[in-house]
Amino acid sequence: MYSVTVGWGRKRAVKTILDGLGGHAAPGQLLAVMGPTGSGKTSLLNALAGRLPTGGTLEGSVTVNGQHRGPGFRSITAFVTQDDVLFGTLTVRETLRFAAGIRLPAAVGDAAKAALVDRVIQHLGLAKSADTLVGGGTTLVRGVSGGERKRTNIGVELLSNPSLLFLDEPTSGLDAFQAQNVMQALLAVAGEGRTVVCTIHQPRSSIYALFDHLCLLSEGRLLYFGAAAGAAGYFAAAGHVCPPHHNPADFLLDLISVDYRFTESEAATRERMRALAQQFATQASTQAQLAGSNGAGAPSGAAPQDSGSSSGGGGGMDAKPRFANGPFREFWLLLGRATRQASRNHAENIALLCQMAVIAAVFAWIYSNTSPSLPGGYQDEISLLFLCAVTVAMNSMMGSLILFSLERQVTDRERASRAYRVGPYYLGRTLVLVPRSIIQNLLFGSVVYWATGLNPTGVAFVLFCCVVICEDMTGQALGLAISAVVPEEKVALAVAPMVVIFLMLFSGFYVSSAAIPPVLKWVKYISHLYYGLQGLAVNNFSGRSGYACPVGAPQPCQLDGADILSQLGFEGDSVGQAFMGLLLLMLGYNVLAYVCLRLRKPRYMPLKVAKPSAEPLQPLQ
Ligand SMILES: Nc1ncnc2c1ncn2[C@@H]1O[C@H](COP(=O)(O)OP(=O)(O)OP(=O)(O)O)[C@@H](O)[C@H]1O
Ligand SMILES: [Mg+2]
Repeated sequence: MYSVTVGWGRKRAVKTILDGLGGHAAPGQLLAVMGPTGSGKTSLLNALAGRLPTGGTLEGSVTVNGQHRGPGFRSITAFVTQDDVLFGTLTVRETLRFAAGIRLPAAVGDAAKAALVDRVIQHLGLAKSADTLVGGGTTLVRGVSGGERKRTNIGVELLSNPSLLFLDEPTSGLDAFQAQNVMQALLAVAGEGRTVVCTIHQPRSSIYALFDHLCLLSEGRLLYFGAAAGAAGYFAAAGHVCPPHHNPADFLLDLISVDYRFTESEAATRERMRALAQQFATQASTQAQLAGSNGAGAPSGAAPQDSGSSSGGGGGMDAKPRFANGPFREFWLLLGRATRQASRNHAENIALLCQMAVIAAVFAWIYSNTSPSLPGGYQDEISLLFLCAVTVAMNSMMGSLILFSLERQVTDRERASRAYRVGPYYLGRTLVLVPRSIIQNLLFGSVVYWATGLNPTGVAFVLFCCVVICEDMTGQALGLAISAVVPEEKVALAVAPMVVIFLMLFSGFYVSSAAIPPVLKWVKYISHLYYGLQGLAVNNFSGRSGYACPVGAPQPCQLDGADILSQLGFEGDSVGQAFMGLLLLMLGYNVLAYVCLRLRKPRYMPLKVAKPSAEPLQPLQ
């Protein structure tokens, strides 16, 4: 029984989504869960696989080979979600190779893994498109067809060599031919001795003919569970005869769907459903009792023994699932994947470089006539340095901000199957951002620096570039921390400007340190913008002199760099201090992002084990 609470206040009510279901699936068989939309197919599949999101109550008993599901259950099962969650910038073969590398232990050997991948490619009919990019998702790449993407998704899960494969609507969004191909591939998978359970909405008759067993749901209740070939006969005996040459799936769905068009039709169809559910419950329980009294019934919830082809088998149900590889190997594999992704995102890489080059060119143009000898010229230099610090701070944060949100679907799936640890993923993902950061900021610095009147020494230029690169990497870490905390991409985009404005306010440019309320004085120490501006200003003004005073000041008047740094609140500071601040902040933000990411692991609802009230339902033959 699965129920959730819906509504608020007085309208709060308990909604029962699954009620009194029972059945079993056996190795070598394809069990299809069929029913109209909203009948509870996905909920049932999630409940069986232990993947129902938290919130609500789930009661019942799910056993595998006679044992209750334990922590080891995950390692013998695989779950293919309705949406294909794959990285679009990898080819089909690369996607499968990565899955084999990360999900199978190193002891299997690279050659054996490659052979296994080739076998899966052959088996799922992906040979023609093996070296085509998957495409879709957040990329602009067209990629493989929907059916091929679905089969790649199935292949990824198959590579963990599961005994039990759950698939939610593996044919949704596919044309009849592609759907047939996918279902045939699943039948072949079942033929290897695995148990395959899938939900399906409205299969054509040739697909229906592939099912071994059928579980028919309507409004969360069981209307039929048994041999798919026997379903039409069962309903015919109850007076609902499938017309000749009619697709049995269409007939069954018409029979068990509620007609919401009119009050009378809704009441009539609901009554028919209630009667069918009642009839099935009575018949199945009689059959179970008979089987029990004959001693022929299967033991409580038992499925036939697992085949030797599957990993783990039924044993190990209590063993905590372990990662297939050590953290080092995970890191290399994840770094390799992240590098491929980053290097293939041509449009994004070019756009980012152009963006920095254009901003740098505009700054260079506007500030090209500034000179320390012009009255107030130093103010132009301060503005330019502040603009550089803000540009880098914003750009880095925004660039990395939505990264985890975009990848979350894939990483959640991978983490749910315990494919790898968070640490190696985080390290690989962030390291890949480093070269981009260096290239972008060197380009930015080279265009801006020499075209304006900034400190014209080679050392000062190098330090300028180092400060912006460090600031950029710190901003990236902050962006990653935010994207690890927020629930989704849109929220991340709403939060980012707020954070930037907040940090800008305390950077030392808009409000002098003395004017900031004491209770908020600490904020600048968590601002990469503050350290960025500090580093750039100290690097530019230290040891320089001969700046003309602003217009209106008593003339003749000259300022030196120390006076300007004092005005900014950076007197006595050094570039080293700024570097130290940025490095500490970078470390802090990275630790924060890592911890948040770790805590954000997908959480599923536990099953309250209830004693089965009757013998488990035996499939009608
Ligand atoms: N967490 C939840 N809170 C409220 N209602 C829920 C929740 N989960 C599922 N439901 C409701 O339970 C019913 C069954 O949902 P489920 O997604 O299992 O149906 P389905 O048979 O998979 O439908 P479809 O064919 O459209 O995918 C639906 O009416 C859905 O709105
Ligand atoms: Mg569904």
